[in-house]
Amino acid sequence: MLNFYGRRHPRNIKNNKLKNLDDSNFFLDKKNIKKFNSTIKKFKNFNLEIGFGRGENIFAQSLKNTNDLFLGCDPYLSGSFYLSKNIKASGLKNLFFTTLDFLELFKFLKGITFKRIIIMFPDPWPKIRHKKRRLINSNFVNLLDLITFEKTKIVVVTDHEDYLNQILYEFYKSKFFELSTEIVNYEVGVSFDIAFTKYYKKAKKSNKKVYFLLFEKKKS
Ligand SMILES: C[S@@+](CC[C@H](N)C(=O)[O-])C[C@H]1O[C@@H](n2cnc3c(N)ncnc32)[C@H](O)[C@@H]1O
Repeated sequence: MLNFYGRRHPRNIKNNKLKNLDDSNFFLDKKNIKKFNSTIKKFKNFNLEIGFGRGENIFAQSLKNTNDLFLGCDPYLSGSFYLSKNIKASGLKNLFFTTLDFLELFKFLKGITFKRIIIMFPDPWPKIRHKKRRLINSNFVNLLDLITFEKTKIVVVTDHEDYLNQILYEFYKSKFFELSTEIVNYEVGVSFDIAFTKYYKKAKKSNKKVYFLLFEKKKS
């Protein structure tokens, strides 16, 4: 089975754009990601965003928390160009990203544990025959156990009710995480300073209800 089902490359991609991305210090690919482990030593707290899209949220979060390290993964290249432009303009030194999909990236994360993991609007794959493509399934939740520690917070945002139910069920089944009820729904967005991403705005524009879920790693 494939790890990623979307489109990786925009249709008209300019070689110099790719080269600029490759040359930047904050872009990680299979060649340089091993060095990442030494780069990150100076940071105490690590945050991960899976499927950052255009990077609006990870960028805003890393600007506000410059002592924390932020790592994002999303195989869709167009988003990386947006994010790369913003990082260069701001001079941020705590934000790194990759076009490896989560399962590929996971192989390089041995020994790294995250304080926070954010997943905003994971692709819902609404057709029944495509549901198996969804990112959040029991295997995914088991992998999260390996890159988290007690009290790690996982925020998931979706506007798709069928996927919402699956996400709740996958985490409910897991012995590693529990749904936090201290703060619920929009309070999660506010408390975690979640930014208005492209898909958040799209959901609001079509009057869709947006669900914010907060999971916490249980004591083992
Ligand atoms: C619906 S978009 C949401 C983008 C962004 N989070 C937002 O709120 O605007 C889903 C994103 O997840 C990315 N994605 C899909 N499968 C992924 C995977 N296995 N690992 C990382 N990102 C993935 C897609 O490329 C896409 O950019």
